[in-house]
Amino acid sequence: PTYQVGYFVGSLSSTSINRVLSKALIRVAPDDLVFTEIPIGNLPLYSQDYDADYPPEATALKDAIAASDAVLFVTPEYNRSIPGALKNAIDWASRPWGHNSFDHIPAAVIGASAGSIGTALAQQSLRAVLSFCNARQMTAPEAYIQYSPEVFGADGDIGDASTEEFLTGFMSEFREHIQRVLTVLPR
Ligand code: FNR
Repeated sequence: PTYQVGYFVGSLSSTSINRVLSKALIRVAPDDLVFTEIPIGNLPLYSQDYDADYPPEATALKDAIAASDAVLFVTPEYNRSIPGALKNAIDWASRPWGHNSFDHIPAAVIGASAGSIGTALAQQSLRAVLSFCNARQMTAPEAYIQYSPEVFGADGDIGDASTEEFLTGFMSEFREHIQRVLTVLPR
């Protein structure tokens, strides 16, 4: 079998280093993971006023998560938390009440920054949100990626053996995590 992985890039930047990281992760992932990006940049700002009648962009978001066996978050850190655009997407997906798209879904978080903290605090913040949304998170390994253009090529090639090995291990563990969760919580 193959596993459908919907991935979120938490950045709307045209030069996003986290988008580059997502390409690198897809490159080193096990062959039986199939990746589809779930876009977040076209969503209006969430309000409960929409609950009775979701706009098409938000329905598409929820449909894309429903079609995924698992979700992967690749996000920058903004002011020691996650970007508003990503939080907005999560808020949309978690609603209307009783229709939380993340309930029991296998999930993993990762992110890159130029700084040595490597989005650690953003990931902690995201983990708290996903925890409340009842996602089944991979808790280990953690991955705090310090981005450097010498290591990451724009198309996702990785120019450093230890980084490649680490990211390969991360994605292979994610695959095991997905399989483990789906065994008890089939989607
Ligand atoms: C940042 N940046 C940043 N970096 C970090 O390590 N911790 C932080 O808290 C922040 N805060 C922050 C806030 C805002 C509003 C911006 C625009 C940037 C820097 C950030 O890591 C850098 O811009 C990355 O390039 C963002 O990732 P993408 O968009 O390139 O994927």
